[in-house]
Amino acid sequence: MTANDATGPSGSGTAGPGSYQRASLFSQRIRYGGDYNPEQWPAEVWRDDVRLMSEAGVNLATVGVFSWALLEPEEGRYSFGWLREVLDLLGAAGIGVDLSTPTASPPPWLATRYPETLPVDARGARYHHGSRQHFCVHSPAYLRLALRIVEKLVEEVGDHEAIEMWHVHNEYACHVPYCYCDESARAFRSWLEKRYGSLDALNDAWGTAFWSQRYASFAEVIPPRMTPTFVNPGQELDFHRFTSDAFLDEMCAERAILRAARPGVPVTTNLMGAFKPLDYFAWARELDVVSTDNYQDPGDPEAPMRSALHYDLVRSLDKSAPWMVMEQSSSRVNWRPHNVAKPPGAMRAYSYQAIARGADGVLFFQWRASRAGAEKFHSAMVSHAGEASPVWHEVAGLGRELARVGPLHGTTVEASAALLVSWPSWWAMEAPGKPANDLQMVDQVEWMYRPLYGRGVTVDACRPDEPLGTYGAVLVPSLYLLGEEEGANIVGYVEAGGTAIVSFWSGIVDEHDRVHLGTYGGPIRSLYGCDVLEVAPLPPGETVRIEWTDGTQTEGTFWLDLVSATDGEVLASVASGPWAGRPAVVEARRGKGRVLYVATRLDDAGLARLYDLVPALAGEPAVTAAGPGVERVVRSSPEVSYEILLNHTGDARTVQLASPGVELTTDRTVEGSLVLGSRGVAVVRRERRP
Ligand code: GLA
Repeated sequence: MTANDATGPSGSGTAGPGSYQRASLFSQRIRYGGDYNPEQWPAEVWRDDVRLMSEAGVNLATVGVFSWALLEPEEGRYSFGWLREVLDLLGAAGIGVDLSTPTASPPPWLATRYPETLPVDARGARYHHGSRQHFCVHSPAYLRLALRIVEKLVEEVGDHEAIEMWHVHNEYACHVPYCYCDESARAFRSWLEKRYGSLDALNDAWGTAFWSQRYASFAEVIPPRMTPTFVNPGQELDFHRFTSDAFLDEMCAERAILRAARPGVPVTTNLMGAFKPLDYFAWARELDVVSTDNYQDPGDPEAPMRSALHYDLVRSLDKSAPWMVMEQSSSRVNWRPHNVAKPPGAMRAYSYQAIARGADGVLFFQWRASRAGAEKFHSAMVSHAGEASPVWHEVAGLGRELARVGPLHGTTVEASAALLVSWPSWWAMEAPGKPANDLQMVDQVEWMYRPLYGRGVTVDACRPDEPLGTYGAVLVPSLYLLGEEEGANIVGYVEAGGTAIVSFWSGIVDEHDRVHLGTYGGPIRSLYGCDVLEVAPLPPGETVRIEWTDGTQTEGTFWLDLVSATDGEVLASVASGPWAGRPAVVEARRGKGRVLYVATRLDDAGLARLYDLVPALAGEPAVTAAGPGVERVVRSSPEVSYEILLNHTGDARTVQLASPGVELTTDRTVEGSLVLGSRGVAVVRRERRP
């Protein structure tokens, strides 16, 4: 199967992605709830669950995620009565159901009877059942049985009126993103034959003249299994593409069954933010609602920034689709080495952070904390201590409060800047054999994003080839792999009047991970105003002084290109070390726009100087004045704007308001300065004058 087969993304679904209106999807309310696993509990508990859900304002429950072994206890023998009873109970209480297909955890009988469905690692070792996600997505037996249980699900309960959304599978590829078995090898070869058409094209793309890797037949090609040293980078890059496509094909095959049964019910699957194995730009196009799982680490001082970036990325994956948080934790998780609890107010503040950045729903994993099993110490909406736990009070309080902010639903987040992100570039950049093998895509993105978050600039993530014209600035953080068309898109944006900030290690290779020869920068080198002659990391921990033309000094770390200015203006130069005197920041005018090339990892002060040169990145002085930890985002419709202010710190913070408004969670008029208490939240509504 490829991404274009009939069962694939462009396949037989009856309603295309994006064809659902936000209003009809979420009925003008913020969705609230979580993963509900009634199969772990006796039926008496279900009634209590529904009572508590109603008390907490739960209006959406994700049911059935890991139910395969209960729904099909033996091959071909089904048991759906309990599920119908649960749907009846939820439906009668007015709680919508996000009904999941159970394909993320095949039952033990399946693994035992069809051991070939179990995935194999790069060393040839097979995984076993006893956990979850133990399947090879290329296995014909897995695919047959997975699609059959989905068909059965639809047949048995698919008509239930409580179902408001379909939830396909769970966190595709989360534990076993790659399988190297013989079935995978077969599928990889046919994917390659389609992609390249001929062996010559494949040999050329992968540069197999190197190390005697030339293939004489497709039969010789294998997945990048364990090798003595670096595997061919083109082979590895294509294996990433192939795997992302294969999981997506499986999702689309399940989706086709669900859509055929209930064309009006939107389909989602829970993504995981910046998850490397799957190209989520391609995935989001196939979903009616984009959803994500986000587990902030309360022990990480930068968690609010990272969480904001997660949400900006997810919102941007398909800019025309609604999105929501499918899973977050009410307090601690149980899978980090040390699992810190969320302090009081943090869960509420993070929930509003998602809503501020465009989410129309915030759900949790999970509704009721398990008694047994691997996740029994993961927090839940209902803890082991039940209603006595302070977590319950926060959960129920937030659920009730969200009814007040319903009008936020369906409004839009406007971003003034775009940050270019590309999964193929991520895959290629982090393959071994580079000047700096510790150069990570997410680090580079965070480096450019961090000061913008601090000053209240809202950023969309964009593919390098999507229209950029609406953004006042485009940030290009080490976009290592850049194709000709992608490069032309960036050049076109600048020439039409845009401002691009391009960092080192951008435009280095083509779509096959082959170097763009000449000075570095490939299809965007003509923008630079300088020649990038050599690329090199700095010694770990070493800094270079960067001197700006007015004499101010900041620092650069990690990396330093050897640059020679051409027609650009040097804004800052290296002022220490062997490359003193070389340009560090160069500005060039191109068409109606301009480009700022950055040859090192500037420190925050250096980046702030740079951003000060770009009006779209100026931010909100009120946010900066309020101090670190205060976040501000605006959602709006043509008539109304909602300014959402969050304080992620444990101290009170004061924010100056630009104009009066009505604060929705308290229904009070606010003006002048607004005090946000510890982890406080404010949603200020204002009419927009034409
Ligand atoms: C993921 C999964 C859930 C659960 C949580 C725990 O999000 O989808 O089933 O394992 O992690 O944090």
